Amino acid sequence: MKQLSVPSLLVLKLSVKLSLAMNPLLIPEAYIIGGQPLCSQLAGLSKGQKKLCQLYQDHMQFIGEGAKTGIRECQYQFRNRRWNCSTVDNSSVFGRVMQIGSRETAFTYAISAAGVVNAVSRACREGELSSCGCSRAARPKDLPRDWLWGGCGDNLNYGYRFSKEFVDAREREKTFTKGSMESARLLMNLHNNEAGRRIVSDLAHVSCKCHGVSGSCSLKTCWLQLADFRKVGDALKEKYDSAAAMRLNSRGKLVQVHSKFNSPTSNDLVYIDPSPDYCAENKTTGSLGTQGRLCNKTSEGMDGCALMCCGRGYDQYKTQLVERCHCKFHWCCYVKCKHCSRTVDQFVCK
Ligand SMILES: *[C@@H]1O[C@H](CO)[C@@H](O)[C@H](O)[C@H]1NC(C)=O
Ligand SMILES: *[C@@H]1O[C@H](CO)[C@@H](O)[C@H](O)[C@H]1NC(C)=O
Ligand SMILES: *[C@@H]1O[C@H](CO)[C@@H](O)[C@H](O)[C@H]1NC(C)=O
Ligand SMILES: *[C@@H]1O[C@H](CO)[C@@H](O)[C@H](O)[C@H]1NC(C)=O
Repeated sequence: MKQLSVPSLLVLKLSVKLSLAMNPLLIPEAYIIGGQPLCSQLAGLSKGQKKLCQLYQDHMQFIGEGAKTGIRECQYQFRNRRWNCSTVDNSSVFGRVMQIGSRETAFTYAISAAGVVNAVSRACREGELSSCGCSRAARPKDLPRDWLWGGCGDNLNYGYRFSKEFVDAREREKTFTKGSMESARLLMNLHNNEAGRRIVSDLAHVSCKCHGVSGSCSLKTCWLQLADFRKVGDALKEKYDSAAAMRLNSRGKLVQVHSKFNSPTSNDLVYIDPSPDYCAENKTTGSLGTQGRLCNKTSEGMDGCALMCCGRGYDQYKTQLVERCHCKFHWCCYVKCKHCSRTVDQFVCK
């Protein structure tokens, strides 16, 4: 099995063709055959992860799907940025960028860890896993007394605990000398994994359904529900913008570089290295560069041509945009549309 030469995410290959980057662990490629994992074929799992894989084979598919959801969300959140959550090394989504302990790396760890909690918690509720079921979270104290608690909720408790065990296992098994750069990176990874999990947990909410005589809503059943993953992505993006630069102190702990700011909490993202320059392609840092990226001529933001193209300028093209239009609702029940095309200007970085 091919071992990736660079630290990269665990790549699960569902049906071998579809390559998914998994939780940001320094794991080479792994394979899930026909949707069912064979732990022996999951090359590069750490010792602890292999054990967990054997004990909880039915979980592996959801770990992979959760990580994929995380990555898709990452690419959505960064679609208008110079770094767009892609990589030079196409065998994994993040590839070489992950060698640097930058705030982008922090984000990818957090969002994949979040994706895994999300997927495992949901899989429990849906009865997909043999070792967990509906949430058994305690009834919230502020829930009105006549509302019922106990619809089948997302099992956040289980999802959190399992994914923490699995995703963090690899970091926890590493042994580095206290105070080394590697130990700083390990602490950074663990912190950001936890931040991702906590955001999912913080955003989970009580959801209720009405019962009672036609719409009277005299009776409600409530349960614990995970937030839409987009909200997790949005929240983590804010954490990315306010991520804290860290360094090791003399006792081998991560501390904030700028000590006048409040220390980051467990929900905040932390990083130890400055971001590389994402303007130009650089195989060492894993930057793809922004040449060929679409930009917005009128925007002054990061998606604007000035910033996106890093001052190199842009080319203008005309392209045909085909859209659905003149949609009509037909009884019953479908919508029929025409296709309209219009010519739009596109701006592409030089
Ligand atoms: C990765 O890129 C190489 C060439 O650059 C290509 O041959 C290969 O099919 C790509 N792999 C994937 C998984 O996209
Ligand atoms: C790539 O990045 C490294 C580290 O920042 C830098 O030293 C090197 O000069 C860059 N290479 C190119 C070709 O720009
Ligand atoms: C990210 O940008 C690169 C070029 O810099 C492009 O090839 C790639 O398709 C983009 N990825 C996504 C997910 O938009
Ligand atoms: C470009 O940016 C402007 C200003 O921010 C915005 O109004 C417009 O919708 C953007 N265009 C596209 C195609 O995203």
